[in-house]
Amino acid sequence: MRILISMLAVTVVAAQQTSVGEKLVNQGDCFSCHAQNGQSVGPSFAAIARRYSGQPSSISQLSAQIRKGGSGDWGDVAMPPHPELTDSQARQMLSWIFSLKGGSPAAKPGAQVYTYKLKNGSTRQLDFPVYTDGKAPNVTKDIFKGYALYNSYCYRCHGTDATGGELAPDLRMSLVTGMSQRTFLSVAMAGKQDKGMPSWAGFLSQEDMIKVYRYVKGRSLDLVPSGRPSSE
Ligand code: HEC
Ligand code: HEC
Repeated sequence: MRILISMLAVTVVAAQQTSVGEKLVNQGDCFSCHAQNGQSVGPSFAAIARRYSGQPSSISQLSAQIRKGGSGDWGDVAMPPHPELTDSQARQMLSWIFSLKGGSPAAKPGAQVYTYKLKNGSTRQLDFPVYTDGKAPNVTKDIFKGYALYNSYCYRCHGTDATGGELAPDLRMSLVTGMSQRTFLSVAMAGKQDKGMPSWAGFLSQEDMIKVYRYVKGRSLDLVPSGRPSSE
C-alpha cells in the first residue's frame, strides 16, 4: 500500500511538472521556431523527444542547450540562448517535450496547388492562394494580414511594400533568386544580430511570419500590387 501511494505521488508530481512545462513553453518564444509536430525553423518537439527518448542523461545537456543556445545538432540554424530561464524551468519544459514522444510527424497537408498567370505571360504554381476568387484583385485574408504586419515591422529597413530600403535587402529579390520559405522564416525568426537584422521570435508567431512571407512572395511575382491591396 505504501509503495502504491508513493508511486501515485511520483506520477502526480511528474504530471504537474509536465503541465507547468507546457505553460512555460507556451509563454516563451519557443513556438516561434518549433512546432509540436513537423519541421519548421527548428526541429519539432516530437522529433526532439524521439531522438533523446531513453537517454535520461540528455536532460541536463538539453537544459543547458535551451539556456545557452547552440547549433549543429539538427542543421545550421542556431537556437538562441534563453538566459532568463532557470535550470529547473528548462527541465520542466523538457518534461513536457519528452511527454510528446508518441507524437507522429505531421501528415503532409493534401498538397494543393494554385496556378497564377504572371504579367510576363508565364505561369507559376504556389502552395497557397493569393486571391479569394482565384484571380485579382481581392487578396486573401492571410496576404492582407501579411501586408499589414510587413508594413508594421519590416518596412523601416526593407522598404515600404517590400521595395527595398537603404538599410536592408529587397526581400522580393531574395525570393526571386531562390530563397525558400524555410530559409526566409529561419532568418526572420533567428535574425542576424551582427548584420543588423533583428530576431522576431517572441514578437511574431510562426503563422504570422508565414503570412509576411506569402505577402512578400506575392509582391515578388507582382501578383500583389504595392500599396494597400484590395480585400473583401
Ligand atoms: C529563433 C528560433 C528558436 C527559438 C525561439 C527556440 N528554438 Fe529551440 N531550436 C532552434 C533550432 C534552430 C534548433 C536546432 C539547433 C541545432 O541544430 O543544434 C533548436 C533546438 C532545440 C532543442 C534540441 C537541442 C539539441 O541539442 O538537440 C530543444 C530541446 C529546444 N530547441 C527547445 C527550445 C525551447 C524550450 C524554446 C523556448 C524556450 C526554444 N527552443 C526556442 C530554434 C529555436
Ligand atoms: C532594423 C532593421 C531591420 C528590420 C526592422 C527588419 N530587417 Fe530583415 N534584415 C535587415 C538587414 C540589415 C538584413 C541583411 C542581413 C545580412 O546582411 O545578411 C536583413 C535580412 C533579412 C532577410 C534575409 C534576406 C537575404 O536575402 O539574405 C530576411 C528574410 C529578412 N531580413 C526578413 C525580415 C522580416 C520578415 C522583417 C519584419 C518582420 C524584417 N526582416 C525586419 C534589417 C532589418
